[in-house]
Amino acid sequence: MGPTNIVQAGDPVLRTAANPVTEFGTPELRELVSTMIRVMQEAPGVGLAAPQIGVPLRVIVLEDEEGRMARLSKKQRDARERVPFGAIAFINPTLELLGDEQMTFFEGCLSVAGWAALVPRARTVRVTGFDVEGREVEWEVSGWPARILQHEVDHINGTLYIDKMLSRTFCAASELTGRWADSTPDEVRKALGA
Ligand code: CO
Repeated sequence: MGPTNIVQAGDPVLRTAANPVTEFGTPELRELVSTMIRVMQEAPGVGLAAPQIGVPLRVIVLEDEEGRMARLSKKQRDARERVPFGAIAFINPTLELLGDEQMTFFEGCLSVAGWAALVPRARTVRVTGFDVEGREVEWEVSGWPARILQHEVDHINGTLYIDKMLSRTFCAASELTGRWADSTPDEVRKALGA
């Protein structure tokens, strides 16, 4: 397959609740998931939802590894609870927020290219869903993977992080990697009046 374009904000597919997958173990579903993983890795990103490649289905993929957290210091990784994990897909996922602890960090989206903002998210979640073969899968997790899961499940419900961000912290990616690279979320909030 050739390059797959990532849909950008403004396309209604990103603002529409996606449809459940009804048939598992099909060549089409396997192809969709492998395409999504490839697009996520090439971007690169740590998550992708099917609507982001124009497919209105409730399918998400996520993955994190050293290369995708390279610009963060050890301290920043620890604060985010950012740990490597291999590519994983959830089909028809259901997300449950556990506890009332929230974490606020910068978040971006491949469909809002070039921007980032601070977004409060639950620290811990439990996701249940299915793999491509229709087997039940469940993951209870805290930290960065929990943030990715919330972001991707929002996508299949037609929600983008910009709906939940601290809007005064919306900033160009160049500001995030330049001006705010070594700042804590609290310092950014103070400076930007959020
Ligand atoms: Co996104």
